[in-house]
Amino acid sequence: MTNATESLVLRTTFTTRNFHGWGCLSVLPDEVARLGAKNVLIITDPFLAQSGLAQQIVQTLQQIGVSSVVNSDVVAEPPLAVAEQLVQFARQQNADLVIGLGGGSALDLAKLVAVLATQDGNVADYLNLTGLKILSSQGLAKIMIPTTAGTGSEVTNISVLSLASSKDVVVHDYLLADSVIVDPQLTVSVPARVTAATGIDALTHAIEAYVSVNATPISEGLSLQAIKLIARSLDKAVKNGNDRQARIDMSYGSYLAGLAFFNAGCAAVHALAYPLGGQFHIAHGESNAVLLYYVMGYIRSACAEKLKDIYQAMGFDVANLSAEEASKKCIIALKELVNTVSIPATLQDFNIPQDALDALSNDAIKQTRLLQRSPMLLSLQDIQAIYQSAFNGKGFI
Ligand SMILES: NC(=O)c1ccc[n+]([C@@H]2O[C@H](COP(=O)([O-])OP(=O)(O)OC[C@H]3O[C@@H](n4cnc5c(N)ncnc54)[C@H](O)[C@@H]3O)[C@@H](O)[C@H]2O)c1
Ligand SMILES: [Zn+2]
Repeated sequence: MTNATESLVLRTTFTTRNFHGWGCLSVLPDEVARLGAKNVLIITDPFLAQSGLAQQIVQTLQQIGVSSVVNSDVVAEPPLAVAEQLVQFARQQNADLVIGLGGGSALDLAKLVAVLATQDGNVADYLNLTGLKILSSQGLAKIMIPTTAGTGSEVTNISVLSLASSKDVVVHDYLLADSVIVDPQLTVSVPARVTAATGIDALTHAIEAYVSVNATPISEGLSLQAIKLIARSLDKAVKNGNDRQARIDMSYGSYLAGLAFFNAGCAAVHALAYPLGGQFHIAHGESNAVLLYYVMGYIRSACAEKLKDIYQAMGFDVANLSAEEASKKCIIALKELVNTVSIPATLQDFNIPQDALDALSNDAIKQTRLLQRSPMLLSLQDIQAIYQSAFNGKGFI
């Protein structure tokens, strides 16, 4: 645990209205009414449009005199061009509130669209690495309803977009939702492979936030509770999607991990994962999962005490273990968890060729926003060594 000193001012940001519980989607009409909306834009993905859930929400809102338009053009791991199109669409609507319904891809686009609907310029103008403009108003009201248990996007101030070779983000507190509705029932239909990938994404958020140089005693509490819930239930949720308690644990764990990393930050696992998404279109959760063992193994000595806490939060007995011993066991337990939920363990398994590693490294080193939070600062050579080990399947323990 990080020691709090008296002279340090800690800042923690939370979304203001948060609902949790099996079936809590029922609060949606009251939230829409509270926000004074009359014309709602629902941003969702094709699956949730086809499943009937989006239409069900349209009808429920009709009953309180609110009209809605559904746009289901969301693409997984959304490319910048899709975001630009959705913003153009939103500017032609007369909406006063945006509902994001779906996984992180839908929520990220919904947050972005809600803010940019009332701003000038393109999405590209506001990108973190290359954009030159800064958002100047919070735009339309936002309600976020996650249907995967992974990204925590419902509580963060960030939208992630895929570029040609990597990913970039728009970050601003104007992206924060006015209301967050975390209903684990909505995640029951998530297929096993997506449950596994999104669950490891959430676990990675909690772990990276816990070992982050920006962690505080506040964010650490969020991280450890997230790790506890996810470690005890991920495998159950993957094996049996109808396991209600497992789905609840995963939704709450994902939410807590989102709050933790929003405040303390993600770090090197995400920095190295982004180019896998950008260059090889590997799902965000799987990109993190395949790298978790190698990155955490590489930086282990810089955060051994904290890895001992993580190992304990995962449900293991650490009573007679030194930090050195527990941290090694923790890294191996993470590898085993990824293996248990059937996510491939090497870059070769994802058909990434050896000659791609240099380009991946050159993109990862640009993710300074993420890399600066790592407890061990990584050079280009370090990053190359980590990708090489993830390619060969030989870790650092
Ligand atoms: N904003 C943030 O803070 C943040 C954090 C981490 C990741 N991300 C971003 O989020 C995106 C990934 O989001 P994700 O992992 O949630 O996946 P996703 O939103 O791309 O969805 C993955 C798949 O699951 C399907 N799906 C979603 N809900 C479902 C349900 N209830 N039942 C059945 N299928 C369902 C979708 O249709 C899609 O095919 C990436 O672009 C990533 O970079 C954002
Ligand atoms: Zn993530």
